[in-house]
Amino acid sequence: MPLEIVRNDITKMTVDAIVNAANESLLGGGGVDGAIHYAAGPELLAECKTLGGCKTGKAKITGGYNLPAKYVIHTVGPIYEDGKHGEKALLESCYRESLALAKEHNCETVAFPLISSGVYGYPKDQALKVAIQVISDFLLENEMKVYIVIFDKAAYKISEKLFSDIAEYIDDNYVDQHTDYCRESVRMNAPMQASVGLFEADLCECKAMSAEDDLDAKLKQIDESFSQMLLRKIDEKGMTDAECYKKANIDRKLFSKIRSDVHYKPSKPTAIAFAISLELTLSETEDMLKKAGFALSHSNKFDIIIEYFISKGNYNIFEINEALFAFDQSLLGA
Ligand code: APR
Repeated sequence: MPLEIVRNDITKMTVDAIVNAANESLLGGGGVDGAIHYAAGPELLAECKTLGGCKTGKAKITGGYNLPAKYVIHTVGPIYEDGKHGEKALLESCYRESLALAKEHNCETVAFPLISSGVYGYPKDQALKVAIQVISDFLLENEMKVYIVIFDKAAYKISEKLFSDIAEYIDDNYVDQHTDYCRESVRMNAPMQASVGLFEADLCECKAMSAEDDLDAKLKQIDESFSQMLLRKIDEKGMTDAECYKKANIDRKLFSKIRSDVHYKPSKPTAIAFAISLELTLSETEDMLKKAGFALSHSNKFDIIIEYFISKGNYNIFEINEALFAFDQSLLGA
C-alpha cells in the first residue's frame, strides 16, 4: 500500500527518511522537532547549524545519526492564522518539497508527521487532508512508500460532519440484518430456455435477459475469475493498469501477481480497493468480491463504511482510509 496512515512515534520508524516539522532556524524546538533531535543526538544539531536555516514551505536534508532513519528532511510548516494567509499553499509546498528531496536521495520509504498541526495550530483534519492530497498526487507519478504518522490518536480526527455521518450510517445498518439479495430465477423466453435451461442469478431487480449475446456475456461473467473480472473492468473503464492499481493504493508487485495468475485470490481489503478504484456500483462490488470468495456484510463496520462511501459515490480511497482509521478499522489496499 503506497500510502499508509499509522500510529507511531516517528523517531521509531525504520524508513529511509523521516520528515521533521521544524522552524526556520532549524535549531530544534519542542514537539516532533524536539523528539527527533533528542533521538538523533547532538550531531544532528551540529549539521543543522551548517544549513543556514530554512524558509517556510521549503525543505532541507541531513543525516539521521542515531535514528533508525537514514535521513531527516527538515521542513518548516506555516503558522496557521485563519486559513486566509496562504497557509494551505505553504503546507502543500512542505510535502511537495520534502518528497522531491526524498526522491532526489533515492529514498524508497518516507514518514511524515502531520506538519503544522501542533504548535503551529493548523486544524488537524485540514492538515491531514492536505497531506493526503499532495502525497497521493505524488504517488500517482512515483514509486515510493509513504507513511503519515499520527502520534496520538486523540490528535487525529476526520471532519466532525463526516465522522457523525458514518457513525449514523453504521448505527442504521449495523443493527439491520443485511437482507440477502433476492435470488430470482429469471425465466427466459422459450428459445433461450431451450438452450440454457433455467438461469438463476443474484439480482437486486429482476431483469429479464434482453438479448442472446447479453445472456452469453452474463454467463461468461459468472465463470470468470476475480482477476479476469478485474482486467475486464479496467478495459471497460478505459483505465491503464497503472492508473487502476495506483488509485487502489496497491503496489505494482501485487498487481502483476494478480494479472499473471487467473486464479489469484486477493485479500478482502485488496478486492475492495480495486472495486473502489474502478468506481464500481454496490452490486458490481458484491459481484467482484464474490469472485474472490468474499461478501460485504452488515455485521462488520469495515464493510458498512465501504458501503457508505460507495452509496455516496465517494471513491477517494485516501478519504476512505482516513475514515477507516478513525473507526479503528484496517485500511484499504494491499
Ligand atoms: N512522532 C510523530 N508525530 C509527532 C511526534 C512524534 N514523536 N511528536 C509530536 N508529533 C505530532 C504532533 O502530535 C502534531 O500532530 O507532530 C505534529 C506536528 O506538531 P509539532 O511538532 O508541534 O509541529 P508544528 O505544529 O509544525 O510546529 C512546529 O513546533 O516543535 C516546534 O521547533 C518546532 O517551532 C516549530 C514548531
